[in-house]
Amino acid sequence: MTEKQVQWFPGHMFKSFREMRAKLNLMDLVMVLLDARLPASSMNPEILKIIRLKPVLLLFNKADLADDAVTDHWIRYYQALGYETLKIDAQNGKNVSKIMTSSHRILKEKRDKKTRKGLKQVPVRTMILGIPNVGKSTLINRLAGRRSAKAANTPGVTKAQQWIKVGDDFELLDTPGVLWPKFDDPSVGLKLAATGAIKDAILPFDEVAAYVLSFLNTHYPKRLKDRYGFEGTLSETEIFEHIGKTRGALLKGNEIDHDRVNRIIVTDLRNNQFGGISFDRET
Ligand code: G4P
Repeated sequence: MTEKQVQWFPGHMFKSFREMRAKLNLMDLVMVLLDARLPASSMNPEILKIIRLKPVLLLFNKADLADDAVTDHWIRYYQALGYETLKIDAQNGKNVSKIMTSSHRILKEKRDKKTRKGLKQVPVRTMILGIPNVGKSTLINRLAGRRSAKAANTPGVTKAQQWIKVGDDFELLDTPGVLWPKFDDPSVGLKLAATGAIKDAILPFDEVAAYVLSFLNTHYPKRLKDRYGFEGTLSETEIFEHIGKTRGALLKGNEIDHDRVNRIIVTDLRNNQFGGISFDRET
């Protein structure tokens, strides 16, 4: 691990993984939350191996911010691998009610077997895992029917946890498992920074903005043109200057204010001003 990687994901996150593994043994079903814009980069590299014997529901959260066609491509990919998947928007609650239906589907065989044997059904125990800022607390609050109570990005599972009853059949651990994302390729860090999964202070902001601009210019050129009002093909330097001039992001002497233009580009992305954008495109 390089120094930069350690900065992104503090050592305690790794250490607590062992603790979380023990918790996972208690679960009948595990919900792994992915960022729909980054289904590969937001997937912890170890987690599917570790929970391979458990039923898993893969939730593509923030689907409202992703490119729907690309999300569908990833959904098909994971379904072909045998996973049950669901696109959700935990913030607005879209498809959140389908989580229980999907979970029932996953567990049906097991539960039917129990019924056939005349055994009593006990509530299904489940927990939510995912990288920081993927929407774990938002989803827990939605499922619990409460509005706030943000769980901090503390790693693993803290001691003071409780089971939240969800419907008649489910018990959800109120504390999510915090995972680290993949970081084996430098562009992953830029994608995580662009979408706000890692703090702005960690990577140079100008590199993040340059990455976003170049990515949009390659994959979504029309949306970039529509947003900033230019036509034809411009280089990224020209687009940058165009934004500076048209948005009045200028220093004394009419020089482009690079910091402000960087901020405009990344803020526009995070505020969904380009429409749904997916950064991970290849499976
Ligand atoms: P975490 O527990 O996994 O760390 O994430 P958390 O629920 O705190 O969510 C992080 C941010 O993502 C929150 O924004 C939350 O509202 C937003 N969010 C969660 N799910 C969705 C979703 O499906 N769609 C969209 N568009 N946003 C979602 P926040 O509290 O406003 O934080 P900030 O990043 O705006 O400061």
